[in-house]
Amino acid sequence: MAPGESWVAVASVTALPEGDMVGVNVGDRLIALYNVAGRIYATDNVCSHAFALLSDGWLDGSEIECPLHAGRFDVTTGKGLGPPIPSDIRTYPTRIVGDRIEIDLAE
Ligand code: FES
Repeated sequence: MAPGESWVAVASVTALPEGDMVGVNVGDRLIALYNVAGRIYATDNVCSHAFALLSDGWLDGSEIECPLHAGRFDVTTGKGLGPPIPSDIRTYPTRIVGDRIEIDLAE
């Protein structure tokens, strides 16, 4: 592991088919994983507008729609795509090692 990296295995690859998403807890962090056209992305799972889990929403291509007020984010960048979203969400680097999805939690 390179200095400054903090890779953690968070899910099995088979738990995340293409076009699907899943919420995982890593310690006290709530993370959402997405499979967009075979690539794995990870973001914070809590919406930046209020408390809602994005993994309970709807994934359309690379956009996740929040289940509470229909705010949308690009899961590849974490960018909020307009009102009522007040700020972007954090993204995490991902990689696949064997049959496990890992994310880098380094600050
Ligand atoms: S809680 Fe997500 S848009 Fe309001």
